[in-house]
Amino acid sequence: MQSLTAKIIGVGKALPEKRLTNADLEQMVETSDEWISKRVGIKERRIAQDDEYNSTFATTAAQAAIQMAGVDAKEIDFIIVATTTPDTVYPSVACLVQHNIGAVNASVLDVAAACTGFVYGAALAWGMIKSGLMKNILVIGSEINTAFVDWSDRDTCILFGDGAGAALFTVSDDANKGVLSMELGGDGSLKDLLVLPNSGSRKYTEPDGSPSLRATRMSGNEVYKNAVRHMNEAALAVLAKAGLTSEDVSLLIAHQANIRIIDAVAKRLKLPAEKVFINIEKYGNTSAATVPLALCEAVEQERLKPGDILVIDAFGAGLTWGAMAIRWA
Ligand code: COA
Repeated sequence: MQSLTAKIIGVGKALPEKRLTNADLEQMVETSDEWISKRVGIKERRIAQDDEYNSTFATTAAQAAIQMAGVDAKEIDFIIVATTTPDTVYPSVACLVQHNIGAVNASVLDVAAACTGFVYGAALAWGMIKSGLMKNILVIGSEINTAFVDWSDRDTCILFGDGAGAALFTVSDDANKGVLSMELGGDGSLKDLLVLPNSGSRKYTEPDGSPSLRATRMSGNEVYKNAVRHMNEAALAVLAKAGLTSEDVSLLIAHQANIRIIDAVAKRLKLPAEKVFINIEKYGNTSAATVPLALCEAVEQERLKPGDILVIDAFGAGLTWGAMAIRWA
């Protein structure tokens, strides 16, 4: 059998217009621009309005990716949307996007792997394309995180933002041009470190019996330590599987959750700052959307050229983690 892989031929992004700055947050909770900038690296984030949905941004990002790729929507075989903040649990966001862009021949699936979702989605796309079952797969990361934020909790409300990014994967006849390797992982024993209570069928209550707020709960320090460890290990694993070392890396696109986490991972990989993509200051943590949003901006800024080795690397609730090594084609 011919050895195939998947390559990315189109990227896109979509963001709400409305900005929430650190100065705005100073008016809402006991915090400061200095604390947020230094400890997390965020200056502002985007906030969806009531008439802007997850599918609104997912659709716009998808349209941009397929336009850049020059692929007709009817030629898309599969739409995978990585999200844990869908418009509705069902129908999936992928179904809504399929309808909005006219991808009438596409299968549709939402993937829930929290902030690792885009990497999991890309891994599914890679498997389908590499096996020869499908040709064109749209992978989107899209989130409306701010629908689930407790705006009185300074530990979490400063972190999150909304937005979407998309990438169109297609078949590459040269197995050395495109996705080279992947590493995925999870550890359900760490399920309590990052939880969105009352977001599913289980009812969460407080000690006094009242319903818990449907807002992110997080053990920040523990998540931080696990994130650095697993992202470092995942990046090293994909490089080893591809027969590469960190010296071969041209660009690292890591999940944008905290600049100190990204810096710690980059330091362990001995990557200089110019090989590490950062845009957290503009958008905050957009969960499954951070990696495709950053990828889109890396392409816009011409930070990737054919032959470059790109590593995408993410972690999230679950806990989950994943990475991919890609030779840019
Ligand atoms: N503004 C000002 N002070 C704040 C604050 C805020 N928004 N949030 C917390 N603080 C305070 C704390 O109350 C604490 O004060 P104390 O020393 O008087 O008790 C101090 O800052 C340090 O808190 P700590 O929680 O130890 O800070 P940290 O350096 O661990 O940073 C996070 C907190 C959440 C930014 C960091 O742990 C983190 O990024 N964790 C990973 C989160 C993440 O990635 N989540 C998404 C996963 S996909």
